[in-house]
Amino acid sequence: MRGGRGGARARRASRAARADKYELYQEAVQDPEGDVRRLVRMYESRFHRRPKLLREDFCGTAAISCTWVRAHGEHRAVGVDLDPEPLAWCRRHNQAKLRPEQAARLRLVRGDVRDVRGPRADVLIAFNFSYFVFKQRAELLHYFRRARAHLADPGIFVCDLYGGPESQEEKVETRKHDGFKYLWDQNRFDPITHHAENLIHFEFSDGSRLRRVFHYDWRLWMLPELRDLLDEAGFDAADVYWEGTDLQRNEPNGVFSLRESAPDDPAWIAYVVAVKRAPRRRVARVRAFPAPRSSRACAPSRSS
Ligand SMILES: C[S@@+](CC[C@H](N)C(=O)[O-])C[C@H]1O[C@@H](n2cnc3c(N)ncnc32)[C@H](O)[C@@H]1O
Repeated sequence: MRGGRGGARARRASRAARADKYELYQEAVQDPEGDVRRLVRMYESRFHRRPKLLREDFCGTAAISCTWVRAHGEHRAVGVDLDPEPLAWCRRHNQAKLRPEQAARLRLVRGDVRDVRGPRADVLIAFNFSYFVFKQRAELLHYFRRARAHLADPGIFVCDLYGGPESQEEKVETRKHDGFKYLWDQNRFDPITHHAENLIHFEFSDGSRLRRVFHYDWRLWMLPELRDLLDEAGFDAADVYWEGTDLQRNEPNGVFSLRESAPDDPAWIAYVVAVKRAPRRRVARVRAFPAPRSSRACAPSRSS
């Protein structure tokens, strides 16, 4: 009733109380259009044809899968996640925005990424560092072996990771977005085990806050460890895409390119592309491609 107690309560509701945590997460952390563009190029530059089937492990709200099926009429996607809540959110929001024929090319599966079978994918991804949940070497190796088994031949498994000395500091990074602030909280880091406890909080212009909305209990894996494990899991190559630097501003420039070595860096994000059946001729020229730095996930910011 207008002007009644319910209306007054609704008017008083803080921005935090009205916020949708998955909407905020997608806005602050993800860049699905950029991801899809990068994945298609990573595949095409190696195999000279368009990938069709994407499997998005740890898909959460499956934003990348939805963008994938929208990007091309032959694209199909399978999103896998343990948690029914983000999958249901995807159905109500991301998948609901697709045209029926696009939505029909998306399948969401609730289950453990190590157990869920299905058609072999051209591209399999584990993004936003989600595979860091596997803290034991044997566990991660098992996952990488399963990932390889779930790939077509040829196919690529792509994961991202972050690192640098600042990634091992207990600190909070704040980033402003339209109407809210995103806080990446490296709450705890153990240098012996590399156990990292990270949190995401949001703050709003009316002073209200959402604390500990997302909680991550991870092992911060190192890049050489990952490459060794991918090799052991049977992949033919584990290529690294490293972000370039804007020399004038001494800041990351959002352009990732294939690199064999890189300069020292206090905080970085990279992609590892693990190849099943490497082409005979190694990729000689891989086009660099931009990624808006601001939309990358939970990585610590670099000193400028
Ligand atoms: C950091 S979120 C990643 C969301 C999304 N991939 C992204 O790029 O932002 C991690 C997701 O992994 C899921 N998850 C954790 N362990 C899993 C497992 N063993 N199998 C499937 N999903 C898992 C969680 O439910 C959560 O939705």
